[in-house]
Amino acid sequence: MSISIPLYQILAVLLVATLSVCYGDRDKAKDVYIVYMGSLPEGEYSPTSHHLNILNEVLGESAATNALVRSYSRSFNAFAARLSDEEQQRIASKKEVLSVFPSRKLQLQTTRSWDFMGLTETAKRNPNVESNVIIGVIDTGIWPESESFSDEGFGPPPKKWKGVCIGGNNFTCNNKLIGARVYTSGGNTTARDKVGHGSHTASTAAGNNVLDASFYGLAKGNARGGVPSARIAAYKVAEHLDNAEVYNILAAFDDAIADGVDIITISIGMGPTPLDSDSIAIGSFHAMWEGILTVQAAGNNGSRSSVFSVAPWLFSIAASSIDRKFISKVDLANGKTLVGNAVNSFTLNGTNFPLVYGKAASSNCSDDDARSCDESCLDRNLVEGKILVCDSETGWIAASSSGALGAITTFSHENVGPSGVPLPSSGLTPENYDVVKSFISSTENALGTILKSEAIVDTTAPLVAHFSSRGPNSIVADILKPDITAPGINILAAFSLDTSPSQSNVDKRSAKYNILSGTSMSCPHAAGAAAYVKTFHPNWSPSAIKSALMTTAWPMNATNEVDGEFAFGAGHINPVKALEPGLVYDASIDDYIKMLCNINISFFSRCPKDISGSAKDLNYPSMQALIESNNSFTVKFPRIVTNVGLANSTYESKVIKNSQIKVSVEPSTLSFETSGEKKSFIVTVSGKGLPASKMVSASLVWSDGTHNVRSPIVVYTN
Ligand SMILES: *[C@@H]1O[C@H](CO)[C@@H](O)[C@H](O)[C@H]1NC(C)=O
Ligand SMILES: *[C@@H]1O[C@H](CO)[C@@H](O)[C@H](O)[C@H]1NC(C)=O
Ligand SMILES: *[C@@H]1O[C@H](CO)[C@@H](O)[C@H](O)[C@H]1NC(C)=O
Ligand SMILES: *[C@@H]1O[C@H](CO)[C@@H](O)[C@H](O)[C@H]1NC(C)=O
Ligand SMILES: *[C@@H]1O[C@H](CO)[C@@H](O)[C@H](O)[C@H]1NC(C)=O
Ligand SMILES: *[C@@H]1O[C@H](CO)[C@@H](O)[C@H](O)[C@H]1NC(C)=O
Ligand SMILES: *[C@@H]1O[C@H](CO)[C@@H](O)[C@H](O)[C@H]1NC(C)=O
Ligand SMILES: *[C@@H]1O[C@H](CO)[C@@H](O)[C@H](O)[C@H]1NC(C)=O
Ligand SMILES: *[C@@H]1O[C@H](CO)[C@@H](O)[C@H](O)[C@H]1NC(C)=O
Repeated sequence: MSISIPLYQILAVLLVATLSVCYGDRDKAKDVYIVYMGSLPEGEYSPTSHHLNILNEVLGESAATNALVRSYSRSFNAFAARLSDEEQQRIASKKEVLSVFPSRKLQLQTTRSWDFMGLTETAKRNPNVESNVIIGVIDTGIWPESESFSDEGFGPPPKKWKGVCIGGNNFTCNNKLIGARVYTSGGNTTARDKVGHGSHTASTAAGNNVLDASFYGLAKGNARGGVPSARIAAYKVAEHLDNAEVYNILAAFDDAIADGVDIITISIGMGPTPLDSDSIAIGSFHAMWEGILTVQAAGNNGSRSSVFSVAPWLFSIAASSIDRKFISKVDLANGKTLVGNAVNSFTLNGTNFPLVYGKAASSNCSDDDARSCDESCLDRNLVEGKILVCDSETGWIAASSSGALGAITTFSHENVGPSGVPLPSSGLTPENYDVVKSFISSTENALGTILKSEAIVDTTAPLVAHFSSRGPNSIVADILKPDITAPGINILAAFSLDTSPSQSNVDKRSAKYNILSGTSMSCPHAAGAAAYVKTFHPNWSPSAIKSALMTTAWPMNATNEVDGEFAFGAGHINPVKALEPGLVYDASIDDYIKMLCNINISFFSRCPKDISGSAKDLNYPSMQALIESNNSFTVKFPRIVTNVGLANSTYESKVIKNSQIKVSVEPSTLSFETSGEKKSFIVTVSGKGLPASKMVSASLVWSDGTHNVRSPIVVYTN
């Protein structure tokens, strides 16, 4: 997941047990495959019987029914079945089958954050329209009793709503939380969120304005979603943070589209996957077809080429800081105070507790293993009642399980430290950490205290989080991903009362609101922003909404981010500005199909023979091309903008240059006479040749004096 790496490590232990329960009695030689057949045919057609027929032909009648896991039949044509390798190959060779790929488990990757991005409580709103907007949240379920989802002041669901509330026992929907479906199996099926992730994302996108929310007094303020008057429908595809089954995710898309949601937010994914075996790309393609924008987390891997949200019809969101940062001070008995990062909600009872370095807390490990507080090294007798000092980011996990009173760890990231911790913790920069180690070695009896966190203003924000997955796009090389960045560090939002805020068994607390970090948290911010734009422009296509948000984004300062646009895409989301973008780069289903055919993917529909072009020809709000290293190059980006501003307006192009490339725009002036009018132009980028592994960026801005329509331009080599 996402949330933070530490939490994920704790969960990994629990998951092993869950998996064997689910599949212990099944045929082990067979795996679940998704058989994708494209759109539903027009007219009379029974998808499920067709699916069973296909299985009958390959498996025989008696085995077919048992093999079928899911039949998708509301929004697209596909099924999931338990098949051997040979059986799946026979099915793949059928002419009506477009692709077959294995199902697998994907990971799930206050709120000052809305004020920070300019969508304040007093920002202009369209409340009547907003209350007709439905956000579909594909996640771990939801905590229905949270104040964030109370329906006080809400009328009945919008008329267009075709969904249901089947959330299982002891789960009730209301006029705010209007729908719930569960796809996970085993034990008690309930849409209730047992891990907090789904409640957090849903409330960030569309939670009510809840006064005086905080996490043990931290981040105190009004917790609210981007569109507090909108409705929520929860689609539960995972019980835990890394068992979101692909066949369940597809089922959620199949239903959400047919139920009539307006925006889908999905903070789930795992590793870049070719489009024809990427369930989220497939589901969101059909959503886009029905006018629904799908917003997806970019991923929490943090390294280059790791962004897993790659399809151009997805809105792919990086995570960055807001201007609030949590520090947790460490007082040493020698009078020194060190400022560390952490979301530490604990207050130690007293001051001056013994400090013990991991190296000295082990009786049977090498110094190297012991220094970082390897769990198998720690000797409970040497740790209990003491503050453990560890050469690792996540030493607090072992500290808590071995009975320590607190943990001081080293953390080299500027704006993030330990969070979701089950005991008092602080994360110190390497320099400050060394001060603690020197103190310990200078005295027999080193004492110290970890103070509860306080929030301070962070003037460096927004900076992209170290964990936010970077481009380039490893599947569609000529499409820039992520698209944009949004707040994803230390976000306060609703949580589940069925788990502790740290999700550690040691932690006996429960919290209605919790602070989490991840692209899981930035994704629903962008979904809320997209819904907000939609309330003012109900007829805009998903591509137009995405374009409005991208071209009005705040420019990020690339001097502070070595990965530049590969880290933050078009920049930082600015919802209010996106209401009036001036021009939009729109794209229709046909444009996307043409692009897919250009990159030789014909699985969404058969491609025409006379296709020519490349992915960079797609009318995308950013421009990116992969070029060969050391060769001079000339790349053309044909684009069409639609005037969504005043009727008679003239836009001049301006290029924010980069000395290593030449950018020209033809024509350089666009004059519009009517609203809705389209004009085309071509951006030509040329250069003398770039070395390998190089990325160079510039931007194009169309300006009429009022609107500045900005697009990043990126060329790079492998
Ligand atoms: C329903 O679930 C809530 C939350 O887990 C619990 O507190 C309550 O006791 C449950 N009610 C029933 C009737 O099971
Ligand atoms: C399902 O929930 C009920 C009531 O909470 C409980 O008695 C029962 O043991 C649960 N069953 C399973 C399989 O967890
Ligand atoms: C990122 O992905 C790469 C490639 O799959 C993997 O080797 C690496 O461990 C991942 N890093 C993190 C922090 O998940
Ligand atoms: C705090 O420490 C004092 C002195 O050791 C003790 O009497 C008191 O019970 C402790 N309080 C809590 C809440 O643990
Ligand atoms: C160290 O000792 C502990 C407790 O005796 C034991 O559980 C652990 O496995 C040992 N670790 C190693 C690396 O030998
Ligand atoms: C970008 O950041 C650098 C270093 O912090 C600073 O010197 C520069 O002025 C910033 N540029 C802009 C445009 O803010
Ligand atoms: C697509 O396939 C055609 C024919 O096989 C080939 O000429 C072309 O280079 C391929 N294009 C890409 C982008 O792979
Ligand atoms: C590109 O040029 C550099 C410097 O001349 C050279 O070291 C490198 O091998 C060349 N790379 C390729 C792919 O030709
Ligand atoms: C736009 O300009 C044209 C030509 O000057 C004029 O006829 C038309 O009325 C103007 N439209 C608006 C909405 O101002």
